[in-house]
Amino acid sequence: MATIVSPSVLAADFANLQRDVEMLNRSDADWLHIDIMDGVFVPNISFGFPVMSAIHNHALKPLDVHLMIVHPDNYIADCKMAGAEFVTVHYEACTHLHRTIQLIKSEGMKAGVALNPHTPVNVLEEIIEELDLVLIMSVNPGFGGQKFLPAAIDKVMKLKDLILSKGASTLIEVDGGVNSTNAPLLKKAGADALVAGSFVFNAEDPIGTIAKLKSC
Ligand code: DX5
Ligand code: ZN
Repeated sequence: MATIVSPSVLAADFANLQRDVEMLNRSDADWLHIDIMDGVFVPNISFGFPVMSAIHNHALKPLDVHLMIVHPDNYIADCKMAGAEFVTVHYEACTHLHRTIQLIKSEGMKAGVALNPHTPVNVLEEIIEELDLVLIMSVNPGFGGQKFLPAAIDKVMKLKDLILSKGASTLIEVDGGVNSTNAPLLKKAGADALVAGSFVFNAEDPIGTIAKLKSC
């Protein structure tokens, strides 16, 4: 299967969001990664649902929403209204993870769980079959442009083993510091989808860079 590429809009030019979303529409990108941060779960604030809705108005590809917030249950309906197709919540932010996952699915969206670098994959053993996606963080969440943590590669392999052992069809996505050097290693380890922010938007040729990631 060709790699799913999900460019992170966090690295776009916020004063020219429509222009950047239209560039992604013309590219080989599969999804648009939307990072929502609350300044509590992570030490940064990005943007909220009105901005996500504006992106959705111009996007021709599914929105892959990454909620870096506490109390995500309170915002699942807003995600649906703003056009989300995938909603990924953090394991570390959900006391009743099973309930949160059911809530996302009850709104007709696909459900994902993100794991911070310190969280082992085996915490998902009892819920993996319910998940459409697991997002392995290869940086500490909160900021774009950080250095890739290579331990993520081993985590992808462990997660792939868990998925196969349960006969689940969960997709593995990796987020943080992804570039053309680590992308083939992640793909080989079992990653299905790669998020890339600064590597795409800081490139001279973002469309060519997306194509390169896709073919890794
Ligand atoms: C980080 C976000 C990422 C970020 C990735 O907290 O979850 O999605 O935008 O950006 P890069 O690819 O620049 O690390
Ligand atoms: Zn993200």
